Amino acid sequence: MSREILVLNGPNLNLLGTREPEVYGTTTLDDIVLELTDLAAARGYTLRAVQSNVEGELVDALHAARTTCVGVVFNPGAYTHTSIALRDAISGVMLPVVETHLSNVHAREEFRHTSMLSAVCLGVIGGFGATSYRLALDALISHVEAA
Ligand code: DQA
Repeated sequence: MSREILVLNGPNLNLLGTREPEVYGTTTLDDIVLELTDLAAARGYTLRAVQSNVEGELVDALHAARTTCVGVVFNPGAYTHTSIALRDAISGVMLPVVETHLSNVHAREEFRHTSMLSAVCLGVIGGFGATSYRLALDALISHVEAA
């Protein structure tokens, strides 16, 4: 069995650390990935981390994960609210995907209350800053090991 997990991040998440710190905190994406890599390793998994600002590249990363990864921690950024292509990719690859957000999208602008993706994801975690990623990884590994 593969022991690889994809941590996929969408648009503008490369700016974490300096992007609207009052909303997203000051932890950088590199910090998050480093911490998740250690947490995953402690449970016997390796991580592949991909960030892209391009919708089609996120689709490609999901397709590539299909044959190599056991699941995906995915923060789709603003594409959460708009992307039918990412929804179809998640359905198509048949991998467990945890939709992950730093902020509580339901406590923010109304356009963030709708997710195109939640219905085809294993679950959704948000509102806990960088901790959301740790919770998502933990939930994903628990799911994979229960299967
Ligand atoms: C986000 C929430 C989205 O609404 C926003 O567009 C982002 C980040 C989050 O992690 O809280 O880019 O996914």
